[in-house]
This record gives sequence, C-alpha cells and structure tokens, in this order.
Amino acid sequence: RTIDVEERYVLPGLIDSHVHFRTPGYEHKENWHSASKAAAAGGVTTVLDMPNTNPYTDTVDRLRQKAALVHGQSYVDYGFHIGVAPGKAGALQALSRGEAASIKLFLTGHHTAKHIIDDEVELDYIFRLAADKGILLTLHAEDDFVLRLFRQTRYEPSGLTNYEAAYPRIGAIAAVARTLRLVRKHSTSVHVLHVSSAEEADLLDAAAAAGYPVTYETTAHQLWFDHASAEPLGTRAKLSPAIREPRDRERLWQSIAHGTLTSVGSDHAPHSIAEKSFAFHDAPPGLPGVQELLPALLTGLKRNLPALTREERLLTAARLLAAGPALRFGLDHQKGSIEAGLDADLLIVDDEKKWTVTTERVLSGSGWSAYEGLELEGEALVTIVRGHVVYDRGQFGEEIGERIPLRRELPDAFGRTAGSPYRVLA
Ligand code: DOR
Ligand code: ZN
Ligand code: ZN
Repeated sequence: RTIDVEERYVLPGLIDSHVHFRTPGYEHKENWHSASKAAAAGGVTTVLDMPNTNPYTDTVDRLRQKAALVHGQSYVDYGFHIGVAPGKAGALQALSRGEAASIKLFLTGHHTAKHIIDDEVELDYIFRLAADKGILLTLHAEDDFVLRLFRQTRYEPSGLTNYEAAYPRIGAIAAVARTLRLVRKHSTSVHVLHVSSAEEADLLDAAAAAGYPVTYETTAHQLWFDHASAEPLGTRAKLSPAIREPRDRERLWQSIAHGTLTSVGSDHAPHSIAEKSFAFHDAPPGLPGVQELLPALLTGLKRNLPALTREERLLTAARLLAAGPALRFGLDHQKGSIEAGLDADLLIVDDEKKWTVTTERVLSGSGWSAYEGLELEGEALVTIVRGHVVYDRGQFGEEIGERIPLRRELPDAFGRTAGSPYRVLA
C-alpha cells in the first residue's frame, strides 16, 4: 500500500508514558476504546497506563485482568504501570520486570490521598525492591498545598532562605528530597512525574548532574498554561499538581532547551463534564490531553523556543515524545526510538497545519478539551502501529493494539551527565 502525503515529515510513533485511560471502573469518565482512538489521532502509538483504576491496579493479577479487558479495545499498543496500596507493598514480590513499565507511587496528592505511601519502612522496602528487580519507580511527588506554604515561607523576611533547611518540612520539595535520599541509599532509578514547579526542576537537575539516576517529565498543559491563562477554564484546569506561575512554565521550557527534561506526557486524566461542573473545591483534578499532546508541544516549542529551526523543533518533539520515554522505560529495543526503531511505529506529521480545537474534534469519551477555542499548529496525518495504519486523515483502522514486551533490565545509571543518550539525541 502506498500512502501519498507529499512532502511531510515522518517521526517515530509517539510514546505517551503517562495516561489514565480509566479501565476498569471509571468508564463514565473515559473508556479505553475512545481514549486509544484519541491517541491514534494524535500520533501516539504506545501508551503506558496509570494504576489508579477501580480496583486499584496494585497486584500482578490485577495487571493481567486489566490487560485482558483492554485486549481488542485498543487502537494503539500499551503497557501498564503498577500501583502500590499503602501497607501492601509485599504484593510487588511477585512482579517481574517484563510486566510493569514502572512501579508508580503517590508520595503526595490531595485527591489521591488514599493511595499515598508515607511509611518510611515501606518506602525503604519499595525503593530497595525496585532497585533489585531493575524496575523504574515513577513518582507523583508534588502537592499544591505544601508548595504554596513553601513559597510563602520562602518569601517572608523571617522565612527560610534555602531549600536545604526546608527539605524536611515542606511537602513538594520534601517529597523529592526524601526521594533523593532513598535513591542514594538503594541506587533506585526514579522518574518524577508531572513536574510543575521551578523548585522541583532545580532540585532534579542538580541531582541528575550529581549522578543520581533520576529523570523527570512534565506535561503538555504545564508547558502551555499558567494560572492566568487557566483561570477562565475554571475546574477544567483544576489539576494535581496545579497549573502554576509564568516563572514555573518558563523554567520548564529551560529544561527542554538544556536537554535535562526526559519526556513530556499528556497525563490524560479525563473526568466527565458533570464531575467538572462541581464547585471548584469538589471537582476532581485532571484533564484529557492525549490527542493534543503533539500539537500543543509543537506549538509551544515555536512560541517559547523561537531560536529553534523547524527541523530542531521536530527533533526535540521526537526526543521528548518518543526517544526519551523509549529509553527511560526500557522500550527502546522494541519500540519507537530514533536509533533502534525496530517496529514500524510511525507518524506522518503536517507540522505547519493550523487548526482550532473544537468539541466536535474531541475523541476522548469525556467529550471536552481544555484547549477548546485555541489554535494549534501541527497535526498527525497518518499513524502506523507495527506496520498497520490505525489512523489516516480522519479514518480509523482496526483495534490492533497489543500489550508491549518490556526489556528485562533497565540501564544502571540514567542521569543526564556526560555520555548519556539524551545528549546524543538532543
Ligand atoms: O490531576 C490529576 N488527575 N492528578 C492525579 O494525581 C490523578 C489524576 C486522575 O487520575 O484524575
Ligand atoms: Zn499524578
Ligand atoms: Zn497522572
């Protein structure tokens, strides 16, 4: 079969390493079929799904049950992160490297408080077990309430003036600082999720430069919005962690410019319009975003890093949305890396196409987008999963998505110091 796309660019299929596709248990918010359709239309060929489903995906059996439910429903390939319920870390003993993309821990998070692991002994056990098994830990490690407290404290004349003094006391930063202590003790590979504050980025860059095997992601919406532009969206832009200030957003773009950011995820976390209609305090945090991931990043790159050429923008997007997650999650022998690219997971992109996000174009079962009314530049034209065309300019193929094989071992050190693959791909 020949696909005529004239003179477009071909990118490696995108890997969205942070999605909540809501199967099982929250299908009133989203379901796998519609979410994976949105992914395919966005150029995403592989997703890694988070464990906060109902039931919580916190045992090997539940991982297998989820895989069975998803089978035949998915336009794109998929893998799963496994969760840990407080007091039940022993369930991880049965886990082998091939089964989970990572062990996901909530260290903070108001809305997901029931999942928070806070016990020192249990945390120590998990960090050690992950290191022994060669499995990555992914962390939700930031909390809005504590960050606000931290900033107030910091800006008060009598307050703390350096992070170090604040580490043991202040949540967002404390969670990362505690993480670094455990990383140092056990050499656990850690990837911090949805980093949204300048403080966290500073800490993590310093840690990586010092040789800690820590990396981090941010999300397309943290790179796009700040509190002023999110304000009119009300509960739709309610997130955990929250949308922050312009200086935070700018700091995250600096991480991209300097090559210290490993990946950008969508954190596709849809809620129903009814749930988002609650008062701000009661509405659940999260927004859908897998379909808008690439266009939002490409548009953002053009606006925020105007010195990049067109080719550099595309390469940077491929690094953050394909090579970075492929290498970090150990998928690079199977999927999507620029170097390896063994599977024909491909995306043909019209990076100059301008289009306005409208409700009609939204494929997520939640039926809304935080980007509605905004003009984005860049669009997936054709999405190919293992040689099968799953999306071609508005038409969908079949639900041929499969659970991906994961590489047995993660590389030992994955800091972004000299010799890191991130430099080569930057
Ligand atoms: O905004 C968020 N939404 N943060 C989380 O930690 C959970 C997620 C969800 O599942 O809705
Ligand atoms: Zn989270
Ligand atoms: Zn999430």
